[in-house]
Amino acid sequence: AGPCDIYASGGTPCVAAHSTTRALFNSFNGSLYQVRRASDSATLNIAPLSTGGVANAAAQDSFCAHTTCVITTIFDQSGHNNHLTQAPSGGVKGPGANGSDNLASATGAPVTLNGHKAYGVFIPPGTGYRNNAATGTAKGDAAQGMYAVFDGTHFNGGCCFDYGNAETNSHDTGAGHMEAIYFGNINVWGTGSGSGPWIMADMENGLFSGVNVKQNTGDPTITDRFLTAVVKGQPNNWAIRGGNAASGSLSTFYNGPRPNASGYNPMSKEGAIILGIGGDNSNGAQGTFYEGVMTSGFPSDATENSVQANIVAAKYATTSMTSGPAMNVGSHVSLRATTACCTDRFISHQGETVNTQVVSSSNTTTVKQQASWVVRAGLANSACFSFESVDTAGSFLRQSNFQLMLNANDNSKQFHEDATFCTQAGLNGQGNSVQSWSHPTRFFRHFNNQLFVASNSGVHDFDATALFNDDVSFVVSSGFA
Ligand code: AHR
Repeated sequence: AGPCDIYASGGTPCVAAHSTTRALFNSFNGSLYQVRRASDSATLNIAPLSTGGVANAAAQDSFCAHTTCVITTIFDQSGHNNHLTQAPSGGVKGPGANGSDNLASATGAPVTLNGHKAYGVFIPPGTGYRNNAATGTAKGDAAQGMYAVFDGTHFNGGCCFDYGNAETNSHDTGAGHMEAIYFGNINVWGTGSGSGPWIMADMENGLFSGVNVKQNTGDPTITDRFLTAVVKGQPNNWAIRGGNAASGSLSTFYNGPRPNASGYNPMSKEGAIILGIGGDNSNGAQGTFYEGVMTSGFPSDATENSVQANIVAAKYATTSMTSGPAMNVGSHVSLRATTACCTDRFISHQGETVNTQVVSSSNTTTVKQQASWVVRAGLANSACFSFESVDTAGSFLRQSNFQLMLNANDNSKQFHEDATFCTQAGLNGQGNSVQSWSHPTRFFRHFNNQLFVASNSGVHDFDATALFNDDVSFVVSSGFA
């Protein structure tokens, strides 16, 4: 059985079921999600390998070869047509066209389930999905349950990495108008014990960790690489549960009355569905989503415990984050541009500025060192890489507002994430392309001889589609110095 078969047997059927990694019903063999490639804007729906099984990631890989893909739709498997698509502008504008949020890269969150490769939805700040016309979801004070599987190591303190029930107009319509799972370490509203991240409930104008508006120490910091997060609510009662999605059982972190604040009892749920954003389209948060559902009715703990056993049996595991020509940690490398204009130019720095320079074996040591980088294990994810300057030890290539800079590592979480990159075969067939770990639609790109992390179309000039594949492909050789 799948998670939704278990919820149905418990009398609390799924009214929305989303996953890019697997079928959530035993009998599901429809489309899980849709990707769109940049080369010709064609789309492909990805289905399970077999009925009830894991997503066919190989179909995505071949469709997206030599270009980039984004996830356009996460289909609802429940039969309610509650599909998630690009979130529109709301109380808060997104960074995309007309204030919409960005779509997620299709390759930001590779994993395996029972040994089969699949992709989760890696959501950087500015990215989000929504359905403002959902049907069958809880409204008003009606009962609902939700679970989601997240990456417990990918979070931040922005508002608000949510999955669940929200406003139908993308605006903040007041306390009690949402009931969504939140994951992260924002401390503006509620907090749990430790420094976070925490699973909390976003009920609008407040993230709640228990009955108190601020801290409830029963809600622990939880950072499992694969994390099951549960929030459920019914009249006068709600609960937070969680656990390791790869082993063991769920714990209850709160189960009791509605928060001690006005507007949350009774609830005024509106029934829209959000992923990766707040109710008003606040889009400062990041996180990774693998699967999740919303139910009609308040699931029993026993039903959720069976769902957790099903998730554990799906065997989520990490997999390689890199491919293409090998990069060896500790080696010195130089990266040569492959665009016709610039095949004698190498990624180089002058102070903090990162650009391309013409470099050859006859240059001075100073110039050679400016174009040479020590490959390090990725500062935010050791399955990827960071690039330390040969002449300025302790300084790394990092992106800041999508421009590549050379800055000293201040050991902050933000710096580590800005300085972590995952390599793959060059999109134009030469060398490597270097993908931003924290913004996986973006790659090292030279543009007017300056270095950026660029996406394959977008609002910045450096996101231009013309020459994209060439501009993001660099031949990696042993370093000049
Ligand atoms: O409740 C926390 C956040 O507050 C909501 O997600 C958002 O709509 C508002 O900014």
